[in-house]
Amino acid sequence: MLLFNSRSPCLALLATTLAGTQVASAIQLDLSSTQSIKSAASTIAHSMMSYYKGNLTGQTVGLLPQPYYWWEAGAMFDQMIHYWYYTGDTSYNDVVTQGLLAQISPDKDFMPSNQTLTEGNDDQAFWAFAAMSAAELNFPEPSRKDVSWLALAQAVFNEQASRWETTTCGGGLRWQIFSWNKGYEYKNSISNGCFFQLAARLARYTGNQTYADWAIKTWDWMESTPLVTAQYNIYDGVDMRDNCTKPIPLEWTYNIGTFLMGASSLYNYTDGDPTWRRVTEGMLNGTKVFFPASLGGNIMQEVACEPQQSCNYDQPSFKAYLSRWMAVTTQLAPFSKDFIMPKLQASAAGAAKQCSGAPNGGKTCGRTWNTATWDGKVGVGEEMSALSIIQANLISKVPPPVTADKGGTSQGDPLAGTGTSNSQPSDPLLTRSITMGDRAGAGILTTIVLGGLLGSTWWMSFGS
Ligand SMILES: *[C@@H]1O[C@H](CO)[C@@H](O)[C@H](O)[C@H]1NC(C)=O
Ligand SMILES: *[C@@H]1O[C@H](CO)[C@@H](O)[C@H](O)[C@H]1NC(C)=O
Ligand SMILES: *[C@@H]1O[C@H](CO)[C@@H](O)[C@H](O)[C@H]1NC(C)=O
Ligand SMILES: *[C@@H]1O[C@H](CO)[C@@H](O)[C@H](O)[C@H]1NC(C)=O
Ligand SMILES: *[C@@H]1O[C@H](CO)[C@@H](O)[C@H](O)[C@H]1NC(C)=O
Ligand SMILES: *[C@@H]1O[C@H](CO)[C@@H](O)[C@H](O)[C@H]1NC(C)=O
Repeated sequence: MLLFNSRSPCLALLATTLAGTQVASAIQLDLSSTQSIKSAASTIAHSMMSYYKGNLTGQTVGLLPQPYYWWEAGAMFDQMIHYWYYTGDTSYNDVVTQGLLAQISPDKDFMPSNQTLTEGNDDQAFWAFAAMSAAELNFPEPSRKDVSWLALAQAVFNEQASRWETTTCGGGLRWQIFSWNKGYEYKNSISNGCFFQLAARLARYTGNQTYADWAIKTWDWMESTPLVTAQYNIYDGVDMRDNCTKPIPLEWTYNIGTFLMGASSLYNYTDGDPTWRRVTEGMLNGTKVFFPASLGGNIMQEVACEPQQSCNYDQPSFKAYLSRWMAVTTQLAPFSKDFIMPKLQASAAGAAKQCSGAPNGGKTCGRTWNTATWDGKVGVGEEMSALSIIQANLISKVPPPVTADKGGTSQGDPLAGTGTSNSQPSDPLLTRSITMGDRAGAGILTTIVLGGLLGSTWWMSFGS
């Protein structure tokens, strides 16, 4: 069963060769020292950004080279906005701004014509998160006067709200935006979780209840499906063709992470509403599966692919998002600190040891934070995850995200994204027949062959 793509043979060979010549060195990390954390973050940020060639002659600004999909560049820029916030290092700010602006498209909604053919709701949302983070952290506004970070996030929200689908399963967003993509019949946790989170963060930032209402509606819909279990585990998705009754029971760090961030944002926005405290606590409980007791209970692991060494190109970056959102949750829902901080600490210590790969002077980051010897894995996702968990340990040293009436400066536009080319790319490409191979961006997840999977007896669960 082709569930996950494996790395290309060349990279695998390279990694194996390099593993054989591993030098005994690693990122030095003393978690009691702000300077040490910043220095480790700086080393890893440099390694990660060395994958980004977008601003070199002949390359496309804003994109990572193949095999990385479009969405991951957006996620990387978000990580770099947080990097600047945590460390004060401004060296990458211009490159980050340039990369983000290059992909906003003429409608300023992160639907660039080169990507729309294969773009999913989740892909678009990861770029919107970068814009949202920029607004919340007061990242310098673009010099282009017709663009603001907040309005970019609002545009994506408005478009996704207009895609809410009520004809099957009582609501929810489809994974895919366009009918020709595989996954159009799939309602999944990441697309709905991203919309939930974006709405919740917009509610908190702007104070506009309409966003909160959408977040509540999205959560209520999630709970009406088998995507959320009684123990608050979040499953991957449901197929509309069987009325969303049979979940694909895979669990990923970024799914629980995106709901945790949304829930803690609503908890904060509502000034401590018990419902959102319950959901935030539930999501914290749901993270436990990713901190296996067998690893001591505090080291994060992507349990659906890491132990099996079956992660595709996307999945090694997922731990970056859970790390990022757990950290911010300690600010928005301070009651979560005692639960979260030991996990950020132990995972960061593990990641630093794993950042001992031979390339880059013995500081290349691998994937498995529970082993002190480099596992031979290399990539943007591995670097991003290590950067995220390590810098997250500075969370108590930085102020919480701002809001419009408490320090926020980004000027929004509640109508952004309405009346845009939301529905169809106006591309001649449309007449081309679409194959799986074309579905470059969409693959945040699993390019699972959904029908086959649902029909089989295969399942996998990591319920705690
Ligand atoms: C790309 O960005 C880096 C980092 O800011 C900079 O040093 C380099 O000059 C830029 N290259 C181009 C071609 O703009
Ligand atoms: C779209 O693709 C073309 C051809 O590869 C490239 O020149 C252009 O910069 C791309 N535009 C964006 C916004 O990515
Ligand atoms: C889904 O629900 C509709 C409406 O209740 C029903 O007509 C249809 O048979 C159901 N399909 C499946 C596969 O259960
Ligand atoms: C909301 O976040 C602020 C900033 O971190 C924090 O001071 C406040 O206690 C939070 N609200 C609640 C209800 O926890
Ligand atoms: C989370 O887990 C704790 C410990 O098992 C339990 O007491 C609590 O009720 C759970 N919270 C929710 C919201 O389920
Ligand atoms: C609140 O957000 C909604 C949805 O985008 C928008 O229609 C409305 O105008 C906003 N209200 C204010 C006061 O900005």
